[in-house]
Amino acid sequence: MRQAGRYLPEYRRLRGDRDILETCRDPAQVAELTLQPLRRMDVDAAVLFSDIMVPLAAVGVPVRIEAGRGPLVDEPVRDTRGISRLRPLEPEADVPHVLEGIRLVRKELDRPLIGFAGGPFTLASYLVEGGPSRDQARTRAMMLSSPNAWDSLMRALVGVLLPHLRAQAGAGADALQLFDSWAGALAPDDYDRSVLPYTRSIVDGLDGLDVPLIHFGVGTGELLPSMARAGGDVIGIDWRTPLDVGWDRIGGPASRAVQGNLDPATLLASWDVVETAAQRVLDRAASRDGHVFNLGHGVLPATPPEIVGRLVDLVHERTERPR
Ligand code: CP3
Repeated sequence: MRQAGRYLPEYRRLRGDRDILETCRDPAQVAELTLQPLRRMDVDAAVLFSDIMVPLAAVGVPVRIEAGRGPLVDEPVRDTRGISRLRPLEPEADVPHVLEGIRLVRKELDRPLIGFAGGPFTLASYLVEGGPSRDQARTRAMMLSSPNAWDSLMRALVGVLLPHLRAQAGAGADALQLFDSWAGALAPDDYDRSVLPYTRSIVDGLDGLDVPLIHFGVGTGELLPSMARAGGDVIGIDWRTPLDVGWDRIGGPASRAVQGNLDPATLLASWDVVETAAQRVLDRAASRDGHVFNLGHGVLPATPPEIVGRLVDLVHERTERPR
């Protein structure tokens, strides 16, 4: 999950105060930061070190990531002129460092590597708002009041995201995750009309690659059926929706795998609290096939690293894992 590294002292040491997007352009650092958590604990997969803004920066969007705030876009995209500047991504030319980072990781890693991209609504929200936003009001207003501009923006984003995901798979990513983190701001009807078709075209564009896709958002309790219809082999569920309830909403264990969903704040509590809460998630999964144990969102920076390692071991002790 995002910003996962921040709770690790070795991560903070290696990152220093270098700009994160610059770090993402350094394949050796990308590889090392990707591998760090695996040197410490027995997690089942690695998540590529990158950021959802990387492909946008690579096609020339003036984006910065400010510590403590998040992505900032100096010239927000609010009209057809702004949208027309979003050109399609050419991975070998635009993000060679990402692909090289993946190849370096692959040489050392004996487990699956998860590549990723931001979802179209989430990236649109950063572009339109110009930065993080509590309610994505400007973005939703544009979506509702300027359907043609919205369609052009979403098509342009598909032209960035699909090549980015395909190239990561081509370079050696074994699974992909689409983080449409802020899609939970939308009513299901609006999501169905204004986001789902574009997400589906990304999903369709990955067809034939034989790389599973995890589709994730935050606060998506009401949106889970729609997100599942948009696509993804695995649907991520945040901690607000009980795992079994969310699973039923997307069609039940026979239809799809799920990923989730321990509340990340649990890991700030004492071990007995963590143990009880983790067991509750496992109980809701009830040993059915297709449960990927995970947090419901990213690891919080104040999380003690030892607790995460202990949680990983606990989940392994109490489940059967396919190897
Ligand atoms: O967690 C990991 O280390 C995996 C790599 C990863 C990062 N960003 C690196 C990162 C992933 C998967 C992301 C995805 C991401 N980035 C998302 C989607 C996932 C989610 O959280 O729902 C979003 C919305 C972003 C945008 C973003 N980038 C934010 C909100 C921030 C936090 C800014 C802050 O300081 O509070 C970032 C910065 C960022 N991206 C960090 C990392 C490790 C932390 C800052 C740093 O190390 O300098």
